[in-house]
Amino acid sequence: MEQYIIKGGSPLVGEVEIGGAKNAALGILAASVMTTEPVIIENLPDVRDTAVLIQAMESIGTVVERLDRHTVRVNAANISDFTIDDGYIKKIRASYYMLGSLLGRFKTAEVALPGGCNIGSRPIDQHLKGFRALGAKVEVSRGMISAKSENLSGSHIYMDVVTVGATINIMLAATLATGKTIIENAAKEPHVVDVANFLNSMGASIKGAGTDVIRIKGVERLHGTTYSIIPDQIEAGTFMFAAAITKGDVMIKNVIPKHLESISAKLIEIGCEIEEFDDCLRVAAPRRLSNTHVKTLPYPGFPTDMQPQIATTLALSEGTSIVTESIFENRFKYVGELQRMGANIKVEGNTAIIEGVDSFTGASISAPDLRAGAALVLAALVADGISVIDDIKYIERGYEDFPEKLTALGAFIEKVETERDIQKFKLKVG
Ligand code: UD1
Repeated sequence: MEQYIIKGGSPLVGEVEIGGAKNAALGILAASVMTTEPVIIENLPDVRDTAVLIQAMESIGTVVERLDRHTVRVNAANISDFTIDDGYIKKIRASYYMLGSLLGRFKTAEVALPGGCNIGSRPIDQHLKGFRALGAKVEVSRGMISAKSENLSGSHIYMDVVTVGATINIMLAATLATGKTIIENAAKEPHVVDVANFLNSMGASIKGAGTDVIRIKGVERLHGTTYSIIPDQIEAGTFMFAAAITKGDVMIKNVIPKHLESISAKLIEIGCEIEEFDDCLRVAAPRRLSNTHVKTLPYPGFPTDMQPQIATTLALSEGTSIVTESIFENRFKYVGELQRMGANIKVEGNTAIIEGVDSFTGASISAPDLRAGAALVLAALVADGISVIDDIKYIERGYEDFPEKLTALGAFIEKVETERDIQKFKLKVG
């Protein structure tokens, strides 16, 4: 079984390059099958979630060629099947985007119900409501969702909750519907904007992405394009907190500082120094950090995908902090693991009350999901002694070369598989 082994205690210092946004990449890959012409996607993160989606696209006849590690050429001219029931696809959340893209292009699609991180019940009612509003007949049975329409036509859709997934999915289908679609109460996340920009570069007519009203004028067909994905806001944020928790000094390169404002604001509030440049950001934590209150909210609020990382950092900060999770109901599963490392956190409903402690001690812990797993790596980076983290498959879903990037910043972390690897690491770090 693959694990990370980490010896804590080194401040992270140096530069790190952020990759393309995983969540934008998933929407963009799905959208790339909406044309018969070749599409080149650049800055594609090489992580497990994108690999799984590519596999699913290939299973229905899409040809995906890797031009280099971060560039693919997608050719969906010969899609022969509209059903995606690949065993892997159930493991990722974004499988549902294939429903929107295939429904848009072929007016029919059948995709296995999505999986993804177990951070709450994660319903998909808003996706289905959107497809139905566009005139599709939608059915869920035996673990599959099917959507069909003779005539997909534009509609006025009011989202009952702000949802990234449903906003993107409806945008995908509506792009190739007849007439106009208006999505109200749309999600405003940078990756929603990136998927809209990608579709527009293929000839779609989408306006308002990034605001809460998106207007889509359906077009008959889309054409090929070459497009570079935006930097990953959450990978960047994770390294910002890695710098903060280890009292380090890190230049985070290839980012859009505007997308990181809610994260920077909290770091400044708890005592970090942040310097912003055009496409990079320096985070330094010269002294012990202080407490704060934070509540996760849709963009531009503080992202739920950064909640475990900030809570972990606050668990070592001075004073009492309160972290409220307002997006997913089951996102504090990592707290038990942090307690084993010495954290003093009490969870009541969707709120964590955190009494800052002076230090963590290394432990054997398990990553309960992707972002919580990353937060546990941060905890181990600063803990006294050695930690071993299990279930790193979750972390690898969304972080490319995580141990390598941390090692380049001075961390002692290695991916190991056997007891012998563990002993070798222990000998090396003393
Ligand atoms: C996406 C991201 C995930 C991030 C989340 C919130 C991807 C692949 N994943 O997940 O990393 O944590 O956005 O920024 O991009 N909801 C409904 N009905 C629906 C859809 C959602 O009630 O049909 C609720 C959810 O339960 C949740 C809230 O809406 O409480 C937000 O969910 P949503 O933004 O859709 O999250 P995902 O797209 O699943």
